[in-house]
Amino acid sequence: VIKRRPIHPSITQRHIDTLVDTFYDAVWADARLGPIFKSRIADRPAHLATMKRFWSAVLMHTGAYKGKPVPAHVKLTEVVESDFPRWLDHFGRCADRVFEPEAAVLVRAAARRIAESLWLAMSGDPFAPPPAWR
Ligand code: HEM
Repeated sequence: VIKRRPIHPSITQRHIDTLVDTFYDAVWADARLGPIFKSRIADRPAHLATMKRFWSAVLMHTGAYKGKPVPAHVKLTEVVESDFPRWLDHFGRCADRVFEPEAAVLVRAAARRIAESLWLAMSGDPFAPPPAWR
């Protein structure tokens, strides 16, 4: 039997739901990121449900997410590299509010690694230097 353990024992689906809800409030209100999300996401509740499954899979290893994040971002041609540290700032702040400190460090690290790999895929250049976001 495969044990599905969260990346930190304190993490629950309730934390993840709050993380996603507060993070999307923050990016929606962001002067740069807000217009990108608003113009691209027609059904916010459906997107939030997808994101809750995504973070449940990443942080709790539930397998709840079955989507393809790379093509979803490669088509976002208006996104530039500096949007990623901005995204990570909001995400990190929300994670710090929701999780225990030890868990928040792991959640931030997971987001950063996925962000780096998404940006490398979006930049389309296998020789691009790895991003150096704070
Ligand atoms: C500046 C950075 C980012 C922007 C502007 C952005 C924007 C978006 C937008 C507009 C969508 C909806 C695409 C669609 O349904 O057509 C989306 C989907 C998604 N994003 Fe991002 N994103 C960013 C970074 C990230 C990062 C760093 C992660 C993960 C750590 C992430 C995870 C996802 C996932 C899982 C989906 C759902 C894909 C699916 O439909 O299955 N995004 N994003």
